[in-house]
Amino acid sequence: MIKLSPRLAAAAALAGRGGSVVDVGTDHGYLPVYFALNGLFAHIAASDIRPGPLDSARRSAREYGVGDKIAFYLSDGLKNVPGTFETVVVAGMGGETMAGILSACPWIAGARLVLQPQSRVDKLTAYLDGAGFVCKRALLRLDGGKPYLIMEAAAGTVGFDPARALTEGRDPLLGPFAERERRRVKRALAGMERGEAPGDELGRLKTRLSRLDTILKETRKWQA
Ligand SMILES: C[S@@+](CC[C@H](N)C(=O)[O-])C[C@H]1O[C@@H](n2cnc3c(N)ncnc32)[C@H](O)[C@@H]1O
Repeated sequence: MIKLSPRLAAAAALAGRGGSVVDVGTDHGYLPVYFALNGLFAHIAASDIRPGPLDSARRSAREYGVGDKIAFYLSDGLKNVPGTFETVVVAGMGGETMAGILSACPWIAGARLVLQPQSRVDKLTAYLDGAGFVCKRALLRLDGGKPYLIMEAAAGTVGFDPARALTEGRDPLLGPFAERERRRVKRALAGMERGEAPGDELGRLKTRLSRLDTILKETRKWQA
C-alpha cells in the first residue's frame, strides 16, 4: 500500500470516490496510484506537461502493479486529455498556473475540483469565484512544518470563500496560514508601491489584506 504525505492524503480524502478522476500535474503519480490501489474510481487518468515526471508516474504505477488501471497523458493541463471527468485534482502548483489550466478547459464548469495551491491562493480564488465555483470543503494540513490549503470546489452561486469553511470549523492552522498569506500580500503591496506590478492588482490585494486581517482577528478570539 502506498503511504501519502499529509498534504496528498487530504487531497485524496476530498477527492473521495466514484466515477472518473484526472490528476493534472501528477509528477510521481502517487495520487492516481493510491486511487487505483484502493479501487476508488472507475476511470483514472494522470497528466503532466513534462515527459520526465510522466515517466516517473508510469514507473510508480508499474511498481505498485496498477500500470494498466491508469491512463497517462503528456499534456499542458487538460488540453491533450480526451473526454471529460467528474473529478479533477490539481495539486502542488502555483495558484496562477492552476487558474490558467482550469480556465483553458471547456468542460470544467461541470466538474468537481480538488485543488492544493502552493502559492497565489488569491489568483486561484479570484478565478474560481468568477467562474461560478463555490468552496464545498477546505482543509489545512501541516506537511514538513508548513501549512497547506486543500479545497473542494463545485458549481454554485454563493461565491468562492474557503476562509468561511475554515473559520466555521475553527481550524487551528488557519491563524498560521493567514499570517503567512498576510506577509506575502504585504510584500506584494510593497513591490507595487515601487511600481513593480500592474495597477489593477492593487485593489484586489488591499481587499485580500483586509479579509486576512478579519480572519486573523477571528482566530485570535478563539485563542483568547
Ligand atoms: C511540484 S509537482 C506536484 C506533483 C503532485 N501533483 C503533488 O502535488 O505532489 C508539479 C508538477 O506539475 C507539472 N506541471 C506544471 N505545469 C503544468 C501544466 N500546465 N500542465 C500539466 N502539468 C504541469 C510539473 O511538470 C510537475 O510535475
